Amino acid sequence: MEKEVKVSISILNSNFLNLENEILRAKKVGIDWLHFDVMDGHFVPNISFGAPILSCIGHKFNMFNDVHLMISDPEKYYEDFVKAGADLITFHYEAFDSIEKIHDLIDKIHKKNVEVGISIKPNTDVRVLLPFLDKIDLVLVMSVEPGFGGQKFISSSLEKIRILSEYKIKNGLKYLIEVDGGINDTTFKLCKKEGVDICVIGSYLYKSDNMLESYKKLEE
Ligand code: DX5
Ligand code: ZN
Repeated sequence: MEKEVKVSISILNSNFLNLENEILRAKKVGIDWLHFDVMDGHFVPNISFGAPILSCIGHKFNMFNDVHLMISDPEKYYEDFVKAGADLITFHYEAFDSIEKIHDLIDKIHKKNVEVGISIKPNTDVRVLLPFLDKIDLVLVMSVEPGFGGQKFISSSLEKIRILSEYKIKNGLKYLIEVDGGINDTTFKLCKKEGVDICVIGSYLYKSDNMLESYKKLEE
């Protein structure tokens, strides 16, 4: 039976003036993961939004809050996002200079009963994640340079998904594989073929003039 790939919709390119309606639009087509792209203007060359916005959303829509911290000091801010309603917090491998500090943050987030993801940028070798794969809940493969929605999919991400998928099966591990950036009806299928579990999608859905039609095209 073909594995179902979940969509986590990124509100980064939604209409913030009408965020409630933008989230309801996604819910209406059947999406139940909300991807929350936090950017600090330091780790990435853009500033987006922070915990206060997430706390307004909370779990009002009964969606899974998939928080992506593209920030330099995730260990300083993760608790704000736990309090604001994060269900999963993903931080970047590249924001750390030691394996011990990464293990430490994984344990601290798990102690708050929140799931943990680690993300790698396009130029980071997927093997750097090997020390963590038996304890994290999700790996986020960036298929664009983090910082902006609407960019073109970087195809070297497909090999990372394949490596992660094979490693997971071979070692009986549970982490989910998520990909983020430039996902549309074509790249969705390419990632699915390599074993991805979740696709983060922003502009392909929010910039579409018919979100339901575009959503259905993913699996057609
Ligand atoms: C990049 C962001 C984007 C966003 C989705 O830092 O993480 O990848 O979520 O962008 P789209 O789907 O518009 O490429
Ligand atoms: Zn993201």
